[in-house]
Amino acid sequence: MQIKNASYIISSPSYDKCPKADKPEYAFIGRSNVGKSSLINMLCNRQGLAKTSSTPGKTQMINHFLIESTRKEKAKKEYWNLVDLPGYGYAKVAQKERKTWGKMIEDYIRKRENLVNLFVLIDSRHKPQSIDLDFVQSLGDWEIPFTLIFTKSDKEKPGVVKRNVETFTELLRAHWQFLPQIIVTSATKKLGRDEMLELIQECNLR
Ligand code: GTP
Ligand code: MG
Repeated sequence: MQIKNASYIISSPSYDKCPKADKPEYAFIGRSNVGKSSLINMLCNRQGLAKTSSTPGKTQMINHFLIESTRKEKAKKEYWNLVDLPGYGYAKVAQKERKTWGKMIEDYIRKRENLVNLFVLIDSRHKPQSIDLDFVQSLGDWEIPFTLIFTKSDKEKPGVVKRNVETFTELLRAHWQFLPQIIVTSATKKLGRDEMLELIQECNLR
């Protein structure tokens, strides 16, 4: 798949303010600072498309991007959405705001009818964190299709990344009959890009 164009559409404060649900949609979620916005930019080959920051809590709304792609050179264009969501687990956010965040995200994830797949980002440098495991468990309860994306793999030794991914999947195995697809990525090294685009293309076909 080749991305021909990527443009920012709108930032929405809640699920019901999102743009019309008329295209296949893929959303990015995970802890604050895990690299959601950076990964969107990497996939689209466009630095600065989604706003990134070294300070957690940068993304605060539901941000929609419109993507134009083709399967082959000169083939018909296809249109789909990428969605950058605010991160969870940011300690400095007040209790009340966290509740609002939870409601906003849960509503979006559970009610958005064109959401095809959720990319759940996990920092590959760390051992499994309960906040991520709990979130993944909720997705199971809600029957939301998702892929596990391990991020920032350039920042740690390959052996450590491998061990963290394996430990995470082992923990899931205790509750899950089928394991989700797993992709190891690095936004700086452009690792995992082809795999993610291939997955999107397959889902777009359905
Ligand atoms: P919030 O919107 O605050 O929830 O954060 P986010 O998940 O969108 O993270 P963001 O993309 O803003 O990245 C956070 C920080 O991590 C930035 O300083 C990025 O440059 C850095 N970063 C993201 N991905 C990678 C990666 O693959 N490798 C390296 N080395 N740094 C990364
Ligand atoms: Mg962000």
